[in-house]
Order: sequence, then C-alpha cells, then structure tokens
Amino acid sequence: MEFFNPVHIVAGIDGAAYLTRFIEKQYSKLGMILLITRGMDFLQSDAYKLLKSILEPWKVREVSLTVSNPDVADMAALLEILSGESYEGIIAVGGGSVLDTAKTMALALLVGIRGIAALRKFVLRGQYEPVVPIPWIGIPTTSGTGSEVTSWATVWDKENECKMSCSCDKNFAVLAVIDPIFTVTCPLSLTISSALDAVCHSTESFWARHTNEISQEFALLAIRQIRGHLEDLAQHRQDDALRFLIGKASLYAGMAFSNTRTTVCHSVSYPLTEKFGIPHGVAAALTLGDFMEFNKAAIPRYDELLLAFQCHSAQEVKSWIFRMLGLGNFSTHLYDYRITQSDIPYLVRHSFTKGRTDNNPVAVQESDVDQLLRHLV
Ligand SMILES: [Fe+2]
Repeated sequence: MEFFNPVHIVAGIDGAAYLTRFIEKQYSKLGMILLITRGMDFLQSDAYKLLKSILEPWKVREVSLTVSNPDVADMAALLEILSGESYEGIIAVGGGSVLDTAKTMALALLVGIRGIAALRKFVLRGQYEPVVPIPWIGIPTTSGTGSEVTSWATVWDKENECKMSCSCDKNFAVLAVIDPIFTVTCPLSLTISSALDAVCHSTESFWARHTNEISQEFALLAIRQIRGHLEDLAQHRQDDALRFLIGKASLYAGMAFSNTRTTVCHSVSYPLTEKFGIPHGVAAALTLGDFMEFNKAAIPRYDELLLAFQCHSAQEVKSWIFRMLGLGNFSTHLYDYRITQSDIPYLVRHSFTKGRTDNNPVAVQESDVDQLLRHLV
C-alpha cells in the first residue's frame, strides 16, 4: 500500500491565527504575495477583513475570480493581468475554481506563459512538469472540492469542448486552512452541491480501481459525517460547529481521492457541466446511486460503504442524494437543465475521460452510459 500527501493542514476555529504565523515563516516580505479570492460578497465578509489584517505587513497583489469553472481563455486573461511581477507566494481563498486557478497560476506565471494557445499547449503537453511551482496556500470557502489537498488543477477548454488538467505532484499546497469563518458566506445551494461533490469524491475513491486502505478509511469518515450532518447544516448554516464538521468531511474526502482519483461519475459529469452548466457537485451526484448499483458486485467492503450512508441498498443511497439535491433546489431531471434525448449521444461521447472511467471497478461501455442518462432525462 502506498499513500502520499505532503500538505500541511490546519483545521479549527483558530485556523486564521495559525495562518498568520505560517505566513511569517514562509514569506520574506521581499517579494509580492498574490491573493486570489472569489470576490463578490466575500469581500464584505469578516473573513476577508481578517485576511486583510493578517496580510497588512506584506506587499499584496489582489485579484478576484468571479467566474465558475474558468476556462483556458479566462486563465490566459488572468495571466496577462498578473505577468511582469515576481510572486513569492499565492494565497487562494475560494471554491474549487479559485483554488484550481491558483494552482495553474503557480505553474504558468513562473515560466511566463502568455496567450490562450501557449497556455493550452502548456497544459495539454505537460510542459508544466519540470516547473517548481510558486508555493501556494489554499483556504476553501466551500466544503466539497478538496482542491486544497489535491495536486491537480482543472482547466476547462470550452472552444474544444473538453476538460484539461495540470497534474503535477509538486503542485500540492504548502498549507491548507480549514476554518469555519471562511464558509459563513456559502449559500444553501452551494453548501449542498459542494457537499455532494465531496460525497462523490469519497464514494468513487472507495470503489476506484486504484483505491487503498488509507483512502477508504478517509472516505468512510467523510461519508458518515456528511450523511449525519448535511441536513442539519442546511437548516442551521450559521452554526460554526456544523460548518466545521462538513468542512472536515470535505477535507477527508479530498485526502481520500488525492491518492486514487475519481471514476465514472466524475467523468460523466464533465460534459454535463461544460456544455449544460450543471454545477459540478450536482452533475457528479446525479449518477452516483445508479453507478453504485452498476458497480456493487465489484465494490470492496460494500456493506461498510452502505452503513456509512445509513442505507441498505444503492437505491436508498440514490434516494438520499436526490432528497439532498431537492434541499438545494436542484432538479434531478436532466430535462430541467435543457437536456433532451437528442443530447445523449453528445454526452456519451464526452463521458470517457482517461484516468477516470477506466478507474471504475467495472468496465463501462458507451451503451451503459447511454441507458443510464436516458433514464435521468
Ligand atoms: Fe469533484
């Protein structure tokens, strides 16, 4: 068994205080720190004020990333804005889009990548592999992506209708801070969709071909906490203790899949998000119950997985997920996302990402995805 994750993790209501001490040790004050946030309402929050006070002694260049699922053109535009400066470190405060952008910037800024074509080539051809990235700190404002403890960064390419990824073992964060003060502004719909993303990370990690015992333990822990507390959190989102529980669960899910990657549910989700704009966690969760049924004979410790969900069957897991989607006001019918039967062939064609579908414990055929998606329309 092998497991690798080098991220220094701080989790607690004193996470921000620890951040101060860490920054003092990590950065020299000679260079510039790049602060990337998700902007908007976060800039009015107490967490943002706290962050600004922590960074007061440093030279800081600040940018906001307000788009979700940024693609290669968005990132190239950001590189254009940020180029010409030498950054000693990057602090990313946001959801998966912000953290993944920070990871891409940590690699691309160092080698002076400019323009869409150059960035696309940089990612697709793995030109980032020899780069020693700018050290970056990840502070999630949503509980779900786990990006603060994984090394890969998604870069969407809308023009070519695909998802690219920087996958580089050197690009783990130097520090991840899980402090419930940063998730106060997370709205209900995002609370639900991101928590379901974490449920998918855990479950897919648990049954992945590349699973291992350590990942499986993290996965079970994450599922138990989310199953046990997400509904409460939906009703009491200002409760620090509940937000912290789900924040830790997301972290555990990130730890789990950081060493296994995900499987078919994530792979099928990519065109649902890229082409039809379904939020990432929703898109992955829509097929989780059905693929659990599809995979069940090949899932190791299947009874323990069901127990973590407090369920007796994959059908019950699917019902719970669909109930949670309802809590977040998300439809469980693809038709409501403007997807019709005529779109299914496109979705099937784009559902087979290398390293994901082939990481599923049972081999998946195009006809399996076709049939499953048609039932969801
Ligand atoms: Fe995900």
